[in-house]
Amino acid sequence: MRVSGLFALLVASVAAGAAFAPKAFAQDALAQNGAATFNAQCKSCHTVTAANSPAGPGLKGVVGRKVAGAPGYAYSKALSGKGGVWTDASLDAYLSNPAAFAPGGKMFTRVGDARARAAVIAWLKTQK
Ligand code: HEC
Repeated sequence: MRVSGLFALLVASVAAGAAFAPKAFAQDALAQNGAATFNAQCKSCHTVTAANSPAGPGLKGVVGRKVAGAPGYAYSKALSGKGGVWTDASLDAYLSNPAAFAPGGKMFTRVGDARARAAVIAWLKTQK
């Protein structure tokens, strides 16, 4: 009884490990793809340092930050009037269609692919 109980525990913990590990790998892979997306589609206008780029606000720590919250950046009224903080959901909405999220805003780059949006958001979370 005792041995089989231990065996069951072992099986259960191996199974639990197997269930968690791929998720961690998937998050890493997602963030890596996000870095590539950022470099290709965002870097010309955004930094991930404390400094703003001449062409757009700095995005260091943007996930969880106040919308239009980079110090010293002159945002459009459309974005600075939105209020709230950036979440996965609001970033997804903004990146899928900035003109619909903040009509009259200054950003026009759209990321049409949902997976690419999830990836770039996952990567931005790593830039604190
Ligand atoms: C051609 C320049 C340009 C490109 C390329 C660009 N952006 Fe922007 N982005 C801006 C500008 C300008 C703003 C400010 C918008 C406003 O004030 O209405 C902005 C704002 C943002 C904000 C809101 C920041 C805040 O402080 O509230 C996020 C998030 C963002 N961009 C993400 C991205 C991502 C991710 C990409 C790449 C997929 C990207 N941008 C590509 C110019 C750009």
